[in-house]
Amino acid sequence: MSIPHADRLTRLTVLLAEWQAVWRPLPFQSRRPPWAGHLPGLEQALLALSDEACERLQAAPCGTSPLAAWLPVAELGELVDLPDLAGGDAGLPASWSQHVGGRKWQQIEAFVPRVALAPGQSLVEWCAGKGHLARTLARWHGTEVTALEWQPALCDEGQALADRQGVAVHLEARDVLAPDVARWLTPDTHVAALHACGDLHVRLLELAAASGCGVTLAPCCYQRTAAEHYRPLSRLGRDLAGRQGLELSRDDLALAVRETVTAPRHVRRSRERAGAWRLGFDLLQRELRGRDDYLPVPSLAYGRLPETFAGFCRWAAERKGLTLPASVDWGAYERGGRRRQAEVRRLELVRHLFRRPLEVWLALDRLQLLEEAGFTVALGTFCERELTPRNLLLRASLPARACGTRTPPS
Ligand SMILES: C[S@@+](CC[C@H](N)C(=O)[O-])C[C@H]1O[C@@H](n2cnc3c(N)ncnc32)[C@H](O)[C@@H]1O
Repeated sequence: MSIPHADRLTRLTVLLAEWQAVWRPLPFQSRRPPWAGHLPGLEQALLALSDEACERLQAAPCGTSPLAAWLPVAELGELVDLPDLAGGDAGLPASWSQHVGGRKWQQIEAFVPRVALAPGQSLVEWCAGKGHLARTLARWHGTEVTALEWQPALCDEGQALADRQGVAVHLEARDVLAPDVARWLTPDTHVAALHACGDLHVRLLELAAASGCGVTLAPCCYQRTAAEHYRPLSRLGRDLAGRQGLELSRDDLALAVRETVTAPRHVRRSRERAGAWRLGFDLLQRELRGRDDYLPVPSLAYGRLPETFAGFCRWAAERKGLTLPASVDWGAYERGGRRRQAEVRRLELVRHLFRRPLEVWLALDRLQLLEEAGFTVALGTFCERELTPRNLLLRASLPARACGTRTPPS
């Protein structure tokens, strides 16, 4: 039997609060995890994991896990087990995918049949980019779609695409955070948002709660917020978090989206190398400064990583005002960085375990905001995590409106 939303939120709040000293510390910042003394044997068990076991646990942290001897693996697994939100995976005509990237198209294919319109409702896409979703929704529902997007260049490109394909989409160059956007949201509107980030989807939910429009939302990037500290959106979320002492910073929110299974292999390899070099530099800087403290080094845009480890250390040292000695055994520090990376990856598994629970907690707080405004809300997944790890879907409407998904075009 499925767990009622409020119970799920309550139990997740308790667990996230109880274990925050375990999931919050970043293992690359300290040589020993701060929790090591409280959970005897856990650090050693993690460090002894094979590469295969580590990868398996990264991919499925709540599955069968040796961490269960210390951490509430089974309960977390139960609490993040959400249904696939039905809608039918009938498949859309391949011709509709023109000009849409392969993975994005698959996400749209999974998302669109799950958008349930009430009779007479018009459709709006929120933060539409070039309106790929809007074009598909317009074709699927046989109705005009208004697509709100902030960047005029994307609007122009998207409008040209829609016009060329003869699809009834109107792109509006709008900042969804501006006050006048409220006029697009009425009880006769259904708003679809695929991977709208932090404040952008929060704005949608707040306007929906006020206006009564229907919503189908796949939230993303919870940490993209103006506020440094998270204020739960729902009364229940605020109440539970206050009582349990669960305070989330913007950095904490980033944990919810730390899974990057969709990055291409060359990007992952480059990230891995950058990570090992950072840890190698960390070993070096601790010796140079004579202080066993982590020293944050700014991030580098993809493709800007120096070609060698020595080059990276020179760059990082300059940024941090450190003078490097004339001779450094670069090979030793680089190898040390790789060893440290293998350790950090294993110690990170405790954070992985709480990643999805945090994401589900944030989604439930969003759900609760709408329930408190009288909406009927469903939370589930719209695709496999291999397609996108941000696969949670919130579907909300006021009970007076009977919604229906439709069957695919023949
Ligand atoms: C992560 S993308 C999602 C795009 C599209 N829904 C998709 O799934 O491909 C977020 C989009 O939001 C747009 N955006 C960012 N801030 C915005 C704002 N204040 N108002 C409207 N759109 C905004 C960006 O330009 C970008 O196109």
